[in-house]
Amino acid sequence: MADKKGEKIPRHIAIIMDGNGRWAKKRLLPRGAGHRAGMNRMIGLAEHVFDCGVSYCTLFALSTENLSRPQEELEGLFSLFREYFPANTERLKKKSIRLRVIGDRALLPPDIVGLIAEGEAYTADGTRGTLALAIGYGGRQDILAAVNEAVRRGREVTMEEFSALLATGDMPEPDLLIRTGKELRISNFLLWQAAYSELYFTDVLFPDFSDKELDKAIEAFGRRERRYGKL
Ligand code: FPP
Repeated sequence: MADKKGEKIPRHIAIIMDGNGRWAKKRLLPRGAGHRAGMNRMIGLAEHVFDCGVSYCTLFALSTENLSRPQEELEGLFSLFREYFPANTERLKKKSIRLRVIGDRALLPPDIVGLIAEGEAYTADGTRGTLALAIGYGGRQDILAAVNEAVRRGREVTMEEFSALLATGDMPEPDLLIRTGKELRISNFLLWQAAYSELYFTDVLFPDFSDKELDKAIEAFGRRERRYGKL
């Protein structure tokens, strides 16, 4: 967890990308313009985060609950996904970053599910880092699915076994959880996994969350003392 300069670098950063709508509103633009700006920022950030020495990055793009937004907004988001996804999967492949998508695929349009499966297979051999995109994801739903799987197995499970049953089962827990856009809540993101994450909230709206802002969050993490409930 330390880079060349001796700075403490989180191994896994999770980000709740909030504030696209307000970013657009401030500019008298439609919400879709905010999502496009957010998408562009997400792509830039996904490169910068691995350049910082982080190995895992989980981005909360769409919660289970977000899927109840008006059809027009959702269609806009899925169109953006279709437009940007193929070229960016290629970029991840070139950088040896493995793409993972977590969330309930049954809630997504079939062609999006197809693109996700292709992107995951294409980048599966990436060794430099893992980018997990949470789409149609809910922390409670993730826990419930793991509980049901444990019940199906017909015996009690340990904490480690339970963690492995979650959507992020093959990833370490997030060291740093960032939320942009002013709200001070977790909003059904990685509820189990974030038990000991350091939390970082910023007023900066996601499209304005620059590489420098991420560096600030990593620096703040470096100053935290993690005790995991011990002395
Ligand atoms: C929260 O802002 C943002 C979202 C619900 C969508 C995030 C999407 C992206 C960053 C683009 C990538 C999209 C996909 C599907 C991969 P908000 O709309 O809640 O903003 P507000 O709180 O200001 O209204």
